[in-house]
Order: sequence, then C-alpha cells, then structure tokens
Amino acid sequence: MIILNEKYRLQPRQSSFSPVLTTERSAAPKERALADLYSANEKRVRAALSRGQAKFIRGEGSAEAAVMLIGEAPGLDEDRQGRPFIGRAGKLLNQWLAVVGLKREDVYITNTVKCHPMKNPKTPDARGNDRPPTPEEIKICWPIVKKEIEIIQPKIIVTLGSPATRTLLNSRDPITQICGRMFPFPENPAIQIFPLCHPAALFHNPNLKKLIERDLRTLAQALQSL
Ligand code: URA
Repeated sequence: MIILNEKYRLQPRQSSFSPVLTTERSAAPKERALADLYSANEKRVRAALSRGQAKFIRGEGSAEAAVMLIGEAPGLDEDRQGRPFIGRAGKLLNQWLAVVGLKREDVYITNTVKCHPMKNPKTPDARGNDRPPTPEEIKICWPIVKKEIEIIQPKIIVTLGSPATRTLLNSRDPITQICGRMFPFPENPAIQIFPLCHPAALFHNPNLKKLIERDLRTLAQALQSL
C-alpha cells in the first residue's frame, strides 16, 4: 500500500494489468529532439518568464511513452531540484500513477509553463512566492509544449488542472465539469486529452477526492485498451 498522507490515501490497483506503455520506435531520436528543443529555448524563456531567476524545468520520463502528463508550472521544490513534480503535489501524483498501474518512468511529465511563476522574482528561494501563470507566460511556452507533444506522439495526454486543460483544449470550461472524459486534441485528433484535477487542488479541497477517484478508475480502464 502506498501512503503519502492518510487523508489522501488511494489504493493501488490490485490487478495484473500491464498496459502497453511505449511505442515501438527507438527512444534515442526522440530524446535528442527533446534535448535540442529545450536547449534552443531555455535561455530565452528563462529571461522572458523570470528575468533569469528561475530554472527552465525540462520534461522528464520516457520519450517513448504512450501517456504524457502536463501540469501547470513548476513550484519552489521543482525550481530547486530542476525537475517537474518533485514536491508535495508530485508525491501525490506518483501515488495516482500507481493507482492506475503506471510508474513515473513509464510516462512523460512536463508543464504548461516552464519556469516557476513567482510573485517576486527577486526572492526565488522564498516559500509562499508562488502565483498562477499569466496568459502571456502560457503563450510564450505553448510552442514548446506543442513541440514536446509532436516529438513524443503520446496516445493519451492527461492534463492536470485548469491551465493545462484550457491551453490544450482551447476551452474555458471549468475543470470539474469536463474532467474524467476523453477529448480529441484539436492540434492532432488522434491524441486523446484526459483532463484531471491537479493534485494540489486536493490539498485545498479534500471534497474533490471522490471525483478524482472516479476519474482515476476511468483512466485505468482507458489505459487497458491502449
Ligand atoms: N505543479 C505543477 O503543475 N507542476 C510541477 O512541476 C509541480 C507542481
């Protein structure tokens, strides 16, 4: 059993389910293409988003993944360690992955916005300095996210929370109304978008637990038919 916090505990799936997780082509060209993409954009995006104060957080995981997860933006822990979803929300996300029969290394995890959005970029090490990404920051990062998707070619993209969902689906619908269903990705309808509440939302609103459990069951079923 995986326990992060008794309050948010979810049971991992008990079945012998083993999803088809990767596509067949060799990983190396995709990894190279991702590395080139990040290198080409890192400096410019850091300067535009945080005046160079925050790191550019690259996506990580399997470049061959059939499942991609896209969050909102890195926080302080992610900025310190230079990796996506490594703090408290990331630990809960790891549990959710276990619930649907996946491990972190089976999927590709990235963010809609690539640098930690800070209220005050002059104090990058301060706790409580987070703010939601602005539409301008999302716009600056969108071509990079589109390219990540184009390189990885996942079958399913799980969008975590409103900014990711709204950006990918180009919609204004509240996340709690559209989560737990598949939608074609407007840029490439062969890819399915599965909106899910952001793990951090559960910390603020424990009432979301039932909805999230329902959606994780739906996602586990969808993964079985990949
Ligand atoms: N929340 C996100 O949306 N992304 C991260 O990388 C960490 C927390």
